[in-house]
This record gives sequence, C-alpha cells and structure tokens, in this order.
Amino acid sequence: MTQTSKSKLVAPSTAYKIVNLPEPYLDYINRYGYEGTHIGPSEEESPWVPFGDNAAIRHLAFDPRNNIFSNILWIKSKGVIGTHKHRGTVVMVCLEGSCRYLEYDWVATPGSFIYEPVGISHTLVTDDPNGVKLFGWMQGPIEFYDENANLIETTDVWWFINHYESYCKQHGIPINKNLYLG
Ligand SMILES: [Fe+2]
Repeated sequence: MTQTSKSKLVAPSTAYKIVNLPEPYLDYINRYGYEGTHIGPSEEESPWVPFGDNAAIRHLAFDPRNNIFSNILWIKSKGVIGTHKHRGTVVMVCLEGSCRYLEYDWVATPGSFIYEPVGISHTLVTDDPNGVKLFGWMQGPIEFYDENANLIETTDVWWFINHYESYCKQHGIPINKNLYLG
C-alpha cells in the first residue's frame, strides 16, 4: 500500500515580492524579540584575530544569553589545535582546505558538515599545506588541555568577546555591534 503525503507544499512560492504575513503575536515579538544580523566578508566588518602563531579567528556572532559564539577558524598551514573538550554542542562546515581529528577516521574537506555533541574531547589537525577554514557555531564552554591532560583554560562566549574586542581596541578598529545577538 502506498502512503500519500498530506503536505500541500510541493515547492516554495516563487512570487518575487514581500508578502505581509498575519502575526497574532507581533506585539510580543516587537517587545521581546530581537533583530537578526548580517556580517559581510570584509575585514572592516570583522577582522582576522590571531589565535597563536598559525591560526586566526574571524568572529561572526556572540550570544551571551545562551553562551553561543560563531566564527571562522583558520589554521593557515599544517598544524594542530590541541586536545580540548566541548561542554556544549558544535556545528561546523569546512569552507576551504582540509582537516581531521586524531580521534576519528574521517577527513573534512570543503562542504563537509561536522556535528559534535556535549562532552566530546578531540584534537584538531590539518595536514593540508594550505591549512583549513572552518565555519563554526558553538554553544557552551570549551576546555583546553596540555599534552599531559592538565586544564589550561576554559573558554566561553566572554572569552571570545574579549578575544575580538581586545584586538579591535589594540588596532583602532571600531567594535561591530552587529556581531552581538540579542
Ligand atoms: Fe573542537
């Protein structure tokens, strides 16, 4: 017996116009909701901030209410981001180059999607001479350890905000308010 779908949506509308939708909760949305954001690709909107000698982070969003931070991590040539533990979830897409984790058997290449659940620890490596660029949307603290499993530091949304703002202040770059959600 074949099952028939009850969905009316075969494909989205192709009407090239803004359609004003009915919204019974508009008052609440206006009072308690907040704007989305857009960060363009130029360094004027968000610069590459050094992260050690061979890596940089381009910050895209900070959500302090939810301890969420989003950025592009760029490892510039063959290198390692040492063992760390995620106390929240990680969503990543590989944009350029390639990378892998010593703990897993796959290699991420441009277009690869990575999801990491709470409590995972791993060691990020790129064997690519051109390194890797990874888009990431992360929630919760990240604990960084040394090679003897001693905790070095726990980073969270405040660490990432400080990483961005300190660099901007040092280099006379205006803080881009569009990075801050909420
Ligand atoms: Fe990680």
